[in-house]
Amino acid sequence: AAAFLTARTGIESHDAVVVLGSGLGDYAESLPDGIAIDYADVPGFPLPRVTGHGGTLVSAPVDDKRVLVLAGRVHAYEGWEMSDIVFGVRTAVTAGAKRVLLTNAAGAVNEDYSPGDLVIISDHINFTGLNPLVGQNDDRLGPRFPDLTSTYTAGLRWDLSAVFGDADLEAHEGTYGWFLGPSYETPAEVKMAKAAGADLVGMSTVPEAIAASHMGAEVAGISLVTNLAAGISPTPLSHDDVTLAADRARDTFTDVLDRFLPILVSDRA
Ligand code: HPA
Repeated sequence: AAAFLTARTGIESHDAVVVLGSGLGDYAESLPDGIAIDYADVPGFPLPRVTGHGGTLVSAPVDDKRVLVLAGRVHAYEGWEMSDIVFGVRTAVTAGAKRVLLTNAAGAVNEDYSPGDLVIISDHINFTGLNPLVGQNDDRLGPRFPDLTSTYTAGLRWDLSAVFGDADLEAHEGTYGWFLGPSYETPAEVKMAKAAGADLVGMSTVPEAIAASHMGAEVAGISLVTNLAAGISPTPLSHDDVTLAADRARDTFTDVLDRFLPILVSDRA
C-alpha cells in the first residue's frame, strides 16, 4: 500500500499522517493542492462502513513537507480485524510518516469538559482487552514488548497546548478510555472509567496509537467532546448528536489543524 501511494502521488516520502475522526473528515478537502485517493483504490485498505466517515486519503503539501490525511477510519465494532484497523496508520508510517495525529469524537467523563471542547490526549486506558500487536510480532515493524510510557509525546503535547493558546482555546488535557462499542457505555461503566482515571471515552484511536508507537512514530491525539458520557449526560446519547456537535466544531477544529500541521511536519527534534 505504501509503494502504491508513492507511485500514485509521485511523492517519495511523507512526513506525517493525520487521522480524521467522526464528523471531522471534511478537513481533508480543505487542504490546498491535495491529491485525493479513494481507499478502495489502495491495495489492502479496509473500507469504512459507518455514517459520518468518508473513505478518502489525501496527500497534501504543508510548507515544504508532505502530509497524508486519512478521512474515515474503521472500527473494531464494525467487526474488523485489528490488523485492518491499524492498516492505514501502518501504511502511512511505512510511507515515511514519523508523526501521527489521531483525532476522534469522544464523550466527556471529566465534568470540566463541555460539548464542543477540544482535548489534548495525554494517555489512554484500553478497556477492550484488544490489542493490534497480538499474534506473531513482525520484527520489521517494532519490538515484541513495546513500552508505551511516552506514546503521546511530551513535545507534541506541548506544541498542541501552544496551538490551543494561540487559537484562544482552553488547553484541556486528558486520558482517553477506549471502549469497544458500538453501544455507548453504561452509566456504571462511565463511573468505572472515571474511577480508573479516564477523562474521555470513545471507540477508536487506541489501536492506531499502539501500532504507530510500536513502529517508533510520535503520536499526538485530539478528542472533540461531542457529548457528556452516559449517566453524566441528562439526555440519551445518539450518533446524530455526535455528528451535529462535530459539525458545530468544524471551524475551531480547522483552525487548530491549520496551525498544528506545520509543526507536526517540522524537523524540530
Ligand atoms: N462514548 C463512546 N464513544 C463516543 C462517545 C461516547 O460517549 N461520544 C462520541 N463517541
